[in-house]
Amino acid sequence: LTAPDIKIVEVGPRDGLQNEQAVTTAAKIQLVDNLARAGVGYIETGSFVSPKWVPQMADSSEVFAGIERHAGVTYAALTPNLKGFEAALAAGADEVAIFGAASEGFSQKNINCSIAESLERFAPVLEAASQANLKVRGYVSCVLGCPYDGEIAPEQVAWVAEKLYQMGCYEVSLGDTIGVGTPSKAQRMLEAVASKVPMEKLALHFHNTYGQALANIASCLPLGVRTIDSAVAGLGGCPYAKGASGNVASEDVIYMLHGMGFNTGIDLAKLIAAGQDICDALGQQPRSNVALAEIAK
Ligand code: HMG
Ligand code: MG
Repeated sequence: LTAPDIKIVEVGPRDGLQNEQAVTTAAKIQLVDNLARAGVGYIETGSFVSPKWVPQMADSSEVFAGIERHAGVTYAALTPNLKGFEAALAAGADEVAIFGAASEGFSQKNINCSIAESLERFAPVLEAASQANLKVRGYVSCVLGCPYDGEIAPEQVAWVAEKLYQMGCYEVSLGDTIGVGTPSKAQRMLEAVASKVPMEKLALHFHNTYGQALANIASCLPLGVRTIDSAVAGLGGCPYAKGASGNVASEDVIYMLHGMGFNTGIDLAKLIAAGQDICDALGQQPRSNVALAEIAK
């Protein structure tokens, strides 16, 4: 087996389902297990946030308790603060992620504090994670535009990303939370961040709200980025970014990458089946062109 040359971070069970009402814990567990069986090596499985803010993720401990543990798969969780970190650790998360923003407006709406305060809250999480030997991923939201503050300067994204990296995040994921970016803008942003944080430590986390995500990813690959976040069936959205639709669909990303000659280690047919399965549970159609085309065959 050759090692994948692109790392796919599957965020469907977290980013995808945090915005969906009434998904049973059993359906979430089945989704995570189906993804692992499809060869997905990194699965963001849940989120340990305030249940008052995001009730959809309140059963994350039960999800972690119910999943099969496949060898070589990393099961990760979002943790905004120490309380979340402790819950994630108790649930058996392999890794955690802290999440900040490039814009003050989104930081306030999403985590109820300024960017500077968020960095202060993340410090004890990084400290506790290092004690527990857990790696910490960092997110920067609104890297290509903010629903509250509008345009975001690439230098501002680079500043926050560099802070997270310096604080100890092993990887920083750049979120186009509301999916407004376009290819050359995405390239300029990535170049600015890569001047502060090594390219191999960066990930793209693009939502597909304006249908630009795949084009944005394709435009950034020649710059050397090799980690892509995506959600099966294009599930997703953020409760604090109105109108933000799903993440770029994993099926579409995998199809494109395989077509370009990259190896991801993921079985596309099994991935499509995993997406269809959760969409059946949701009573929705997959938001993936590749899945729809393959299912229609
Ligand atoms: P706060 O109200 O300022 O926090 O919220 P607090 O410390 O004052 O606590 C308030 C209450 O929440 C207390 O309970 C705490 O115990 C409880 P009470 O005393 O009122 O009963 N609490 C918690 N409970 C469980 N787990 C916790 C936790 N922390 C506090 N970890 C806070 C601050 C950060 C907690 C809140 O704003 C929050 O949970 N925000 C999360 C919002 C969220 O999950 N957004 C979606 C994920 S981010 C995203 O989707 C973007 C991303 O995909 C990248 C991209 O696309 O750009 C990552
Ligand atoms: Mg997101």
